[in-house]
Amino acid sequence: MNCPTGSDIERAAAILVGGGLVAFATETVYGLGANALDVKAVARIFEVKARPRFDPLIVHIADRNWLSPLVVEVPEAARRLIDRFWPGPLTLVFPKTNRVPDLVTAGLPTVAVRMPAHPTALDFLSRVEIPVAAPSANRFGKVSPTTAQHVVDQLGGDIDYVLDGGASIVGLESTVVDFSGDSPTLLRPGGLPLEKIQGVIGPVRLLDAANSTGSKAAGPDQADAQRAPGMLAQHYATQTPLVVAPCGSPLPNAARIGLLAFVPEFDLDGFAAVEVLSLQGDLAEAASNLFAAMHRLDALRLDVIIARGVPNIGLGRAINDRLARASHRGD
Ligand code: TXA
Ligand code: MG
Repeated sequence: MNCPTGSDIERAAAILVGGGLVAFATETVYGLGANALDVKAVARIFEVKARPRFDPLIVHIADRNWLSPLVVEVPEAARRLIDRFWPGPLTLVFPKTNRVPDLVTAGLPTVAVRMPAHPTALDFLSRVEIPVAAPSANRFGKVSPTTAQHVVDQLGGDIDYVLDGGASIVGLESTVVDFSGDSPTLLRPGGLPLEKIQGVIGPVRLLDAANSTGSKAAGPDQADAQRAPGMLAQHYATQTPLVVAPCGSPLPNAARIGLLAFVPEFDLDGFAAVEVLSLQGDLAEAASNLFAAMHRLDALRLDVIIARGVPNIGLGRAINDRLARASHRGD
């Protein structure tokens, strides 16, 4: 793992405070950060990512004391999750205060907040002493970056600094839970398994989109679409078409087929390239390898990538969600 020096972090912090865009390592994926209270800087995030203005950003904080200026209230159940899982791969949505610019929240009356666990991210945020709005540091709809090189490849010339903290260990974006409504609602499955959250606060409501299994990326229904504007069916797309299909299903009629396997497979006839996410079938290992494997297969300019779904439990729920979205094209 690459360890940035204090002066790298100092430099990144100075650039961000000066209104610049800094991509930084987190334990989930790399974020593209701007001062959340500086509308001009935040506007550049949307431009650089080519992200639609209706898709709100997560605000990153280094200390839970930073929450109170940003949010109106933190319900008791959310407080329990914060005690247990922050810093970590959990984003919580609350009613926002006027301090949070509407651009950050895409006009929503709520704000999403996360305290990342990566030591570089925490050091960086502590030095800037400002909440940092940061989406994943990829072009909109593309595969999220889990290394500094992924960021440079996608956004290189358009941003001001990349704070390299090595490969992201969790490898999937944070789990997003909304506390602004009547009951806690899972808006996005992610790096913190739903079961762990339910173990602390009991039942959590699922949106259709968040509950999708590997075979189908259902979009949120009309009523929920406004609460989860980022849950577009087509997302995380490789350039190469990606199809989720079980082991043993007939191969498509294509010259160069890649395989994105969960575990090693016996019959590799017909595949031009193979990525195995976990030798032992470990979902955490598979999650941490997923996006890097997708980036590698994509770079080979194959005709099609066949991906295997994984057990829909724990982190498997988020892996299946990302695969389903990556496979959802043109409809
Ligand atoms: O792990 C992560 O969450 C990474 C790292 C960089 O922290 N960030 C990330 O950001 O994945 P992004 O922008 O790619 O995804 C943020 C998700 C989107 O689905 C967005 O719609 C949702 O969070 N979101 C943000 N603010 C929201 C709000 N006020 N209400 C509902 N959803 C919100
Ligand atoms: Mg993203």
